[in-house]
Amino acid sequence: MSATLLAVAGIFVREGRLLMSRRPEGGTWPGLWELPGGKVEDGETPEEALVREWHEELDAIPLGAVPFDFGTESGLVPGRSRRHVTLLFFRVRGLRGTPSAKGVEAVRWCPADEARLLATPPADAPVLARLAAEGGGAFRDTGDAEGRALAREAVENDSFIEGSEALRARRAVTFVKRGSAEGRDVRGLLVATPHGARAYRNVCPHAPIPLDRDGEPLLSADGRFLVCRNHGALFTPEDGRCVAGPCEGDSLASLRVVRSGAGWALEGGEA
Ligand code: FES
Repeated sequence: MSATLLAVAGIFVREGRLLMSRRPEGGTWPGLWELPGGKVEDGETPEEALVREWHEELDAIPLGAVPFDFGTESGLVPGRSRRHVTLLFFRVRGLRGTPSAKGVEAVRWCPADEARLLATPPADAPVLARLAAEGGGAFRDTGDAEGRALAREAVENDSFIEGSEALRARRAVTFVKRGSAEGRDVRGLLVATPHGARAYRNVCPHAPIPLDRDGEPLLSADGRFLVCRNHGALFTPEDGRCVAGPCEGDSLASLRVVRSGAGWALEGGEA
């Protein structure tokens, strides 16, 4: 029995190097290098599928995708059936994040002369040849001013706190959320408590400076208090209230956070 699938792939070139990913062993075209992408799921548009696939596989978000080409290929899925794939190729004009091998074997940035030597699935080869031909033998960058503006906007609107996954391994982490919804950076700290994570502005009520200095731990040795390393004020993690020190009775400003994937996201505004 055979199946026909619709799939998408994205073309992103930066400084003459094309982003490519390596297929896993055990599927169709195992170990080959391809333009990253994947199957369009039911109910998805091709553009939505491209965003989902790049997020799942590369931990990056393609922005401003525009149709570039299409192709077809068929191959055997080991132990299963022959499948026919119609592939839609998109030119990606902006990128959010730094691609990594999150759900693929590997990623690499290839100049045209290197990409020409790689083993690729059949539908990718003519697209690579077209890209090189249009660039006079080299890959031409796909990013443009609009793509860069979209990337800036995505950073500003993304509420996920980079590095917040570390709260699983550590009880307190500091963060800087660039260009928040408030239009400015938010310097904060996340702390795990028996009642869930709490977040505060990393600004001491005694003086408007961060609690941490020179990488000193945010928590006291017994883990019961957040410590301001400037003059030793102690704060209870659950409510941010200062219980000892020069600002006793004052509190850290709370921030609203919600779970987001493996970490936390800023909800905007103070709690
Ligand atoms: S700045 Fe925090 S105790 Fe003085």
